[in-house]
Amino acid sequence: MRIFLVIFTALLSSTAYSQSNFLWATASSAYQVEGAWQADGKGQSIWDVYTNKHQVTQAIINENQTGNLALNEYDRKQYLQDIALMKKLGINSYRFSISWTRLIPDGDGKINQAGLDHYTQFIDDLLQNGIEPMVTIYHWDFPQALAEKGGWHNPESVKWFDNYAHLIFTTYGKKVKKFITINEPYFNIFWAELAAQNIINKVSNPMAFTTESCSKEVLAAHHLMLANAKAIQTYRSLGLKGIVGVTLGLAPTLPLNDQSDADKKAAIRQDGIQNRWFLDPLFKGTYPADILRLYQQHNPSFQPSAADYTLLAANKPDFLGINYYAPSIVNEDSSMPFALNWQNNPDSIKSFNGPVRPEYLHHLLVRLKNEYGNPMMIITENGAGFGDKDDELANGSVQDNHRADYLKRHIEAAMAARKEGVNLQGYTAWSLFDNFEWFYGYTSRFGLVYINYKTQERIPKKSFLVYKDLIKKYGNK
Ligand code: BGC
Repeated sequence: MRIFLVIFTALLSSTAYSQSNFLWATASSAYQVEGAWQADGKGQSIWDVYTNKHQVTQAIINENQTGNLALNEYDRKQYLQDIALMKKLGINSYRFSISWTRLIPDGDGKINQAGLDHYTQFIDDLLQNGIEPMVTIYHWDFPQALAEKGGWHNPESVKWFDNYAHLIFTTYGKKVKKFITINEPYFNIFWAELAAQNIINKVSNPMAFTTESCSKEVLAAHHLMLANAKAIQTYRSLGLKGIVGVTLGLAPTLPLNDQSDADKKAAIRQDGIQNRWFLDPLFKGTYPADILRLYQQHNPSFQPSAADYTLLAANKPDFLGINYYAPSIVNEDSSMPFALNWQNNPDSIKSFNGPVRPEYLHHLLVRLKNEYGNPMMIITENGAGFGDKDDELANGSVQDNHRADYLKRHIEAAMAARKEGVNLQGYTAWSLFDNFEWFYGYTSRFGLVYINYKTQERIPKKSFLVYKDLIKKYGNK
């Protein structure tokens, strides 16, 4: 018996993935950094179309900005210099996303070898420099050709994504040990896509989302969750020796006025919409009943099938990627009960993505441990921007004190949670560089490295040095 046990354990450990080092990383996404929007046979993504045809940044920041050039990160000469900066920073992992339409220009079907080769080279270059790639398969740059077939609303989208993920796993799966299927289904569907559609339809306040539009989008969000589960199943069927997870944009939700019952209720509802709606299917295989009821009141045709639930329940992620920026501070607003009503809390310093409240990162991590079975967790984004003053280039340097302080306090909060038994295995700063910030173009800087967009010069900021010191201080154990 004993001998069988030994053999069984040995077999298990030869196939099971083991994470020895704590990951210290920075993150980016393809559309936000790569540029080269038409190079080497790449097809168009919806973001190419949103920015070039519909000028979505014009609607929000009054400037016509696109990711056509971005940080020129597609260029090997450029990215090799950037990898050298990563080494200087001391990170041991880099999270980036693959552009779907570089690999498959129409989203499904014919493969573009030049696109595949580009990422093979990039992955090899990272590995040669001792930096582990953490690959996001989809970070919002959906293929335009598939958007014209209904996008994530089309049930076929689950298959489209699975084919694309299969190509990535079979091409890079021997070298890449960590895959993230999807970045932030909530913000992708209920924020970015809704805002883009509002801009295209010339709605006067593009960030005001109606009950009707939100409840329609729930189907698209469901297809994303099914696509995630299907891709995890595919990954496992290939017998690869890494791990696969998904990244959620999570945030504790707080009432704007904690004396108001209506605001308190709104905060509980928002927790259901933003957090539980995604966490529950991932770890419990089901949607939370209260929010399901709410969506179905407005969209009775939304009826996930038994087969859908089976697929969700059978394919839990190996790890949960957590993007945390700020708590969501909400108030009751009957005109948009499903939409994130992202208010500023007057007690806190405000960053672009909300108030600076590191203690809520700690709360969130402990909650995931207690309510969701303490899965392996990696913080896959955390960071901030504060506007011009903090990112001012003066005498060749940028003293971004607010960002430096933000990083320090959030890393401390994360490490405290880890000490309390949270299964946290990595921290990723967003972002190494200033980059294209969706509807805000180049006006919202989040980087540890300043980008001079006229010259593409890179200038490490104070936060770069602070992060470097924090990595040294906490080490890899
Ligand atoms: C997204 C990033 C974005 C960042 C900063 C996250 O929600 O994943 O793409 O740039 O927030 O706003």
